[in-house]
Amino acid sequence: MRDFTVLGIETSCDETAAAVVRGRAPGPGEILSNVVFSQIEEHRPYGGVVPEIAARAHVELLDEVIAQALSQSKLALSQIDVVAATGGPGLIGGVMVGVTTAKALALAAEKPFIAVNHLEAHALTARLTGGVAFPFLLLLISGGHCQLVAVEGVGRFRLYGTTIDDAAGEAFDKTAKLLELPYPGGPAIEALATHGNPRRFALPRPLLGRPGADFSFAGLKTAVRQVVRSGKEFAPADLAASFQAAVIDVVVDRTRAASERFRSEFGSIANHLVVAGGVAANHALRQALAAFCESEDFTIAIPPPALCTDNAAMIAWTGVERSGLELFDELSFSPRARWPLQDVAEGISGHVPLQGERATSQ
Ligand code: KG4
Ligand code: ZN
Repeated sequence: MRDFTVLGIETSCDETAAAVVRGRAPGPGEILSNVVFSQIEEHRPYGGVVPEIAARAHVELLDEVIAQALSQSKLALSQIDVVAATGGPGLIGGVMVGVTTAKALALAAEKPFIAVNHLEAHALTARLTGGVAFPFLLLLISGGHCQLVAVEGVGRFRLYGTTIDDAAGEAFDKTAKLLELPYPGGPAIEALATHGNPRRFALPRPLLGRPGADFSFAGLKTAVRQVVRSGKEFAPADLAASFQAAVIDVVVDRTRAASERFRSEFGSIANHLVVAGGVAANHALRQALAAFCESEDFTIAIPPPALCTDNAAMIAWTGVERSGLELFDELSFSPRARWPLQDVAEGISGHVPLQGERATSQ
């Protein structure tokens, strides 16, 4: 298998990003450039991402972000092998901007085009950074997603658990809003929690100890709201610390349940836990997951924070992996607001599954 050099584009939420990555499976790969323009300032007054503002900002920023990614990589478009863009899931206006731009570049430069599933990109980042071998257990924990997934290969996933209401990052953001902290809430809660008493409030731990590996955070958020609206005096740091402790307890418990299933299905040689998504930047959570892995003989792999949050290096890397398997897409590909991981191996226009490859859905 030869090396591929891929231009990746990410526009599915509030980061406008482009990157150039070179390498081959199983990694690690070489990040030649990784430009991320965060639109946080545009969305901050609204306390969350506004889709229309995001789409407009992507239109305004993307050409310049791509130009910077190419110039930092010291490569011309003609020296790129493949153009890859997030094809979903995400805010559809933004995804359309990225996909349309990537198609135009691919057409102009006569290069293949790949529509990348954003979740698959988060999943494969640990191969870009550390060359982690398949299969591995993935905890994907971000503002939009909260899932435990066995990753068997490119396009091959078994969903073990997902959130039945809010994603973990969403719970951080909503709790931060209740505490009148700035958006995005995760880093603000984490900073406040370091000064608080995590045992001050006995907040619920939804689904803790229950069969399966699903998550739920809505009840936790409601409990926080009740404390805030009770009218009684309280120290915000204590509430932030108690909230964060509850999230961590739930996440570790659900990961434990998934790890037992993973071991039973793949045997004890499969021992990597990969953690990805913005919430994986949380230090207290990283520590708790590291302690869990040590006690259970799992090796933990968490990409550096800048590659846990949304970026285009992960999109380019997924392009590298897919190029190696000749999994290119037609220019008729339509952006997808919803695109569950289990559907990644099938139903993509122009996608030709390799022999034996199939989506493993539950
Ligand atoms: O992966 P990401 O950048 O975007 C999505 O695809 O959602 O994740 C953003 C989410 C936000 O909800 C943010 O509050 C959360 O990750 N986050 C954190 C931390 N840093 C970011 N949550 C907890 N602790 C943090 N340090
Ligand atoms: Zn993401």
